[in-house]
Amino acid sequence: MTLQEPRLCQVSVETGLLGNADGHYQKRFTDLAGLYADAAAFDRLLAQRGNEVAYEVTSFTPGQKVSDLIVGVTRMEPGKVGEEYFLTRGHIHARGDRPEVYYGQAGHGLMQMESPDGEVRIVEVGPQSICYVPPFWIHRSINVGSTDLVMMFTYPADSGQDYGIIERSGGMRVRIVDDGRGGWRQVENPDWRPRSREEVQGILDAAA
Ligand SMILES: [Fe+2]
Repeated sequence: MTLQEPRLCQVSVETGLLGNADGHYQKRFTDLAGLYADAAAFDRLLAQRGNEVAYEVTSFTPGQKVSDLIVGVTRMEPGKVGEEYFLTRGHIHARGDRPEVYYGQAGHGLMQMESPDGEVRIVEVGPQSICYVPPFWIHRSINVGSTDLVMMFTYPADSGQDYGIIERSGGMRVRIVDDGRGGWRQVENPDWRPRSREEVQGILDAAA
């Protein structure tokens, strides 16, 4: 068999981009409709900055198998929609038993995680901190700082992403908002609906 060639990819903490990458996508504020609680504040953001990049991902994909690890860098703008800090859309892996590792490079962020049956975990991620997202946890990142949040990540290449799981439950269970003292706090999302026992079991069984 022919072995894959090793590859060197340089992380730029300043630009939040990965060098020698083979993938790059950008999410603009216009792509994030429906994620935030304060619709009027979101409309104001769209009017001012709708076409600007909210977050972007550069990555290297060595192959498509579980034994191939996608590596990449995500960069997210700082800011808020009303009182709610900027966030990524969030997902569970389509193959739910695939984990992910995030390694903070710059800025101050949170990894918001939610289990299928509604347990919530919030982990702070900054430079030199690693967050392990275990299998089956829905995850999104949030920038609670005043500068770009830059993180390296890696996950098995066949993981896939199911973004609909968050939409189907009315959002994630908590929202992360300004605590009025420059920090953050979590508040309940009143629109959140628990997943049925059947749906939870279906998620767990799909990987078996
Ligand atoms: Fe992921």
